[in-house]
Amino acid sequence: MILSTREMLLKAQREGYAVPAFNIHNMETLQVVVETAMEMESPVIIAGTPSTIQSYAGPDYIKAMAEVAANKYNVPIAIHLDHFEDVDDIKRNINIGFKSCMIDASKYEFEKNIEIVKEVVDYAHRYDAVVEAELGKLGGKEDDLIIDEKDALYTNPDDAAEFVRRTNVDSLAIAIGTAHGLYKGEPKLDFQRLEAIRSKVSVPLVLHGASDVPDELVKKAISLGICKVNVATDLKIPFANAIRTFFNENSVESDPRKYMAPGKEAMKQIVKHKIEVCGSANRY
Ligand code: 13P
Repeated sequence: MILSTREMLLKAQREGYAVPAFNIHNMETLQVVVETAMEMESPVIIAGTPSTIQSYAGPDYIKAMAEVAANKYNVPIAIHLDHFEDVDDIKRNINIGFKSCMIDASKYEFEKNIEIVKEVVDYAHRYDAVVEAELGKLGGKEDDLIIDEKDALYTNPDDAAEFVRRTNVDSLAIAIGTAHGLYKGEPKLDFQRLEAIRSKVSVPLVLHGASDVPDELVKKAISLGICKVNVATDLKIPFANAIRTFFNENSVESDPRKYMAPGKEAMKQIVKHKIEVCGSANRY
């Protein structure tokens, strides 16, 4: 069954682990995520950005594939609209059955962010769908969204409390030093800030930009209250590298069933590892 992420994240919050949210792009990547989650008995969130869901695959395809996977395996699956900025796209997807979304209005100032998020929350809750929002600004590149490091902004704990209270949002993505994509140096996470936010905000907290962050830092963030961890880049790179290697060794092969297979296998190893880091194995 396709679930809303509400129960999943509240259970993770109660039990002190994180649900991994993996960005997928097509049938193959969705299969890897769901099959690996099933093998490890881990709840999982399948995430798709607008350029995957709206432009590349189409919401109906993604939803149908996720439903097939959910019916085939007895694993709690949620499909989640990741970094959506267009309120009407979110509403349309909720209308066709998506139960979980992120409205990313983090590029706007505080009051405008609240206004947009509140509109989405009011709509989503009527359809039993849940909403994640972001306060603060992550650096790096996600989809077509590029934030220069100098424009990244850490989340203020008091603002976070007010934001959650006024929007009634279900979970909150916070900026504590992670960035989308690869890091230039070792990432530094502001754990004190995380603790301060955790003490003032009761909804599940989300860590974006978890690729290329040392496992120990991600685990520490989870121990301090993060209960959803988003991973995209760390899956894409090994998938592409394995296919590149395959073509270097088999330059005339043209069968996608052959050249996709090593990409899937490489991605699977990372999905497994991330599930271990999140502590979400054997949780259902
Ligand atoms: P990374 O690409 O850095 O893993 O970020 C993924 C993410 O936060 C998706 O929302």
